Amino acid sequence: MINKLISQILPHMPPQLVWMFSKQYIAGETVEQAIEKSKKLNDINVMTTIDVLGEFITKLEEAEANKREYINVIEKAEAAGVKGNYSLKPTFLGLLLDKEVCYQHIREIVQKASAYDNFIRIDMEDSPCTDMSIDLLRRLKEEFPENVGLVLQACLKRTLADIKALAVLNSPEVPLNLRLCKGVYDELPAIAYKEYETINQHYLEDLEYMLQQKMYPAIATHDKPLVDGALKLLEKYNVAKDRYEFQMLYGVTPRLRASLVDAGHPLRVYVPFGEKWFGYSTRRLQENPAMAGVIIKALFKK
Ligand code: FDA
Repeated sequence: MINKLISQILPHMPPQLVWMFSKQYIAGETVEQAIEKSKKLNDINVMTTIDVLGEFITKLEEAEANKREYINVIEKAEAAGVKGNYSLKPTFLGLLLDKEVCYQHIREIVQKASAYDNFIRIDMEDSPCTDMSIDLLRRLKEEFPENVGLVLQACLKRTLADIKALAVLNSPEVPLNLRLCKGVYDELPAIAYKEYETINQHYLEDLEYMLQQKMYPAIATHDKPLVDGALKLLEKYNVAKDRYEFQMLYGVTPRLRASLVDAGHPLRVYVPFGEKWFGYSTRRLQENPAMAGVIIKALFKK
């Protein structure tokens, strides 16, 4: 309920005030800032995945410009020696407008990353995008087996079946690289688990299946009980350090992040940047348990 309240309040707050809360989650508005923040993370033994903010575009011409922006980001980050890869949202490249055009744009981006022996993660958006995003992965894996991976969401009831179906893309030489997260979109109870405990239970079940199949999981969560559950599974299956990684979002739970890095676990931070920060940061503010009170207080202080 508080989450819904925050999403209703934020659009009516002065943009400078929203930015004050949001900036903790965003690396900046320019690629140079994203590179600078990424290098600082690299200095503390954290890898990155840079994301250009923006989603659900409404004009196909924007997709062309967004693709060029990604190519530019890859060239600049590689030239700067950032230790990291890239994440993208298919609807930013036109998924809901023209599937084929979107595929061609993402293909060019993956091709560019592959020229640097690097990797593109396809983020998972809301449920109308799920099948289409899985199709993108299947097609791209044929041409670039080592350079592309996907995200799956433990809150969706279909996810374990999706992982099982995708196991055909997994092999000992090139383990299938899937980021597992809880899922941030508000889905209907018919297709999604809604309770914290149930989502966590399915998260660990999905992860255990991935480890049994010797896939490469990117364990994306800031939830301490889930991190602990994941650590137990990594130990149970004796998973080598180059066969998994933890992932967290920029600006979230830095202490938990440091504890994993200090214990020698590979960890990557999602580094979003760009001018279209509003949608992304609203989701982060909704997830911050301390934020509701702060926002409401700020609103009444004006
Ligand atoms: P949960 O939301 O239960 O939070 C656990 C604890 O973490 C909280 O109690 C709090 O302490 C802390 N915390 C979490 N968020 C915080 C915040 N914003 N500020 C301060 N503290 C916070 N989703 C999706 O649908 N598609 C995707 O492609 C991705 N991609 C992605 C990449 C990476 C690297 C991560 C880490 C996450 C995603 N997500 C995502 C988001 C994911 O689905 C989920 O919404 C968030 O990670 C929050 O879930 P947690 O697992 O952290 O648990």
